[in-house]
Amino acid sequence: MTTRRSFLRTAALSSAAVPFLPSLYNTTLAAAQTAPLAKVRLAFIGVGLRGRSHVSQALYRDDVEITAICDISADSIAKTNSMIEKAGRKAPVAYSKGDEAFQEMLKRDDIDGVVIATPWEWHVPMAVATMKAGKYAGVEVSATVTLKESWDLVDTYEKTKSHCMILENVCYRRDVMAILNMVRQGMFGEMTYAHCGYEHDLRNIKFNDGKGHGVGAEFGKNAYSEASWRTQHSVDRNGDLYPTHGLGPVAHWLNINRGNQFVRLTSMATKSRGLHKYVVDKGGENHPNAKVNFKLGDVVTTMVECANGENIMIIHDTNSPRPYSLGFRAQGTQGIWMDDNKMIYLEDAKGNPLSPKPHTWEPFATYQDKYDHPLWKQHAQTAQNAGHGGIDFFVLRGFIESIKNQVAPPIDVYDAAAWSAISPLSEESIAKGSKPIDIPDFTRGKWKTNKPIFGLNDIY
Ligand SMILES: NC(=O)c1ccc[n+]([C@@H]2O[C@H](COP(=O)([O-])OP(=O)(O)OC[C@H]3O[C@@H](n4cnc5c(N)ncnc54)[C@H](O)[C@@H]3O)[C@@H](O)[C@H]2O)c1
Repeated sequence: MTTRRSFLRTAALSSAAVPFLPSLYNTTLAAAQTAPLAKVRLAFIGVGLRGRSHVSQALYRDDVEITAICDISADSIAKTNSMIEKAGRKAPVAYSKGDEAFQEMLKRDDIDGVVIATPWEWHVPMAVATMKAGKYAGVEVSATVTLKESWDLVDTYEKTKSHCMILENVCYRRDVMAILNMVRQGMFGEMTYAHCGYEHDLRNIKFNDGKGHGVGAEFGKNAYSEASWRTQHSVDRNGDLYPTHGLGPVAHWLNINRGNQFVRLTSMATKSRGLHKYVVDKGGENHPNAKVNFKLGDVVTTMVECANGENIMIIHDTNSPRPYSLGFRAQGTQGIWMDDNKMIYLEDAKGNPLSPKPHTWEPFATYQDKYDHPLWKQHAQTAQNAGHGGIDFFVLRGFIESIKNQVAPPIDVYDAAAWSAISPLSEESIAKGSKPIDIPDFTRGKWKTNKPIFGLNDIY
């Protein structure tokens, strides 16, 4: 069993060199030691809004069986059971007795992988227990809250050889995968800079009246969904609390942990105004939450330096009125792409404009078609049918296919550790007056020889 679980069919990929040629996609994986599993048996810990969205994706697949679910909320369990029943599938065994009920569930021998979609502070205890039980762990974002937790994930993986995937769905966004394709084909020349972030007005999610999003100024125990746990992080912490939606795609463009490495960061936070104002706007000056001192700055900016000389700027902006954006920008010696205006400008290797007019943006749409990632070309129809714009389909598919083929997941424990560690490190930098803070090498040197795997074959 151990050899089966630990067996990484990456031999054929190990000769891959950067930049990548399109032909490297579909790289045939070395022959499996065992046939793929006919059925992947999944369990879920945390079947709130996000967990149920994963359940709905799993229900599209005939090769997946949901054997068990765990949640402390009777309402979450009932809603999940009803979805499973409507899909005509067998009812899973439910575990709901207390915060540690998942430990009991993990003793089952009919679970191959566990999807963890609980509040952030539960991710690591649950992922560690899952790996120790010899099952694949698929953990929601951010994977970890503290630096120690990032190390706990890595150490547990190295001890157990049970895999852990961070379920970063944005890595599969169609445009950022086309950009990955272009980066690998050298269209941007040598990469120098990337910009990304989580710029999402979460005020109506951080506060509600307990019945649904958008009404009221409550948070904590009696609030609905994320307001019951996420908002407390804005009271206690000042840093980039949610870095991985932006950083995941950028890490793939820059080969982080696979030929490149985060080296150090520095962070700065604005004053904190938005959450207090929202409480007053919704609940009045005398609302009890108007007295709460929210530590989180409205906009947190983090600069990361990479081993190969690139810089990454990450923005965390969740407390102000603003339309949604992840603010992507990819820049190299031959050009630049920007998410916010969906524009691109490129030169060729000799410095001649490839874009029609010098110094002038052109729409990205034509490049999107030309450089559409093969995974998207192949699965677009299924992904769109499965809803959520496709990225949720792809991320769960990556997890399920890794289990099915008993290989390492496309986004691994080192990615989970390094991307999530930006949160505590940015908190430390801000607390020390924007002091530069070294980012640990969670691969313990393996980044120098590890080769990229994400987006290079049909499994990943
Ligand atoms: N990748 C994405 O796009 C995306 C989107 C939304 C949420 N998320 C992530 O998903 C996770 C869950 O978020 P959500 O929006 O579903 O929150 P939620 O509050 O709606 O759901 C959390 C669920 O976990 C359950 N829970 C809490 N403690 C538990 C325990 N000890 N044992 C078992 N169950 C427990 C709660 O009862 C609840 O049903 C978070 O990490 C969040 O950041 C990711």
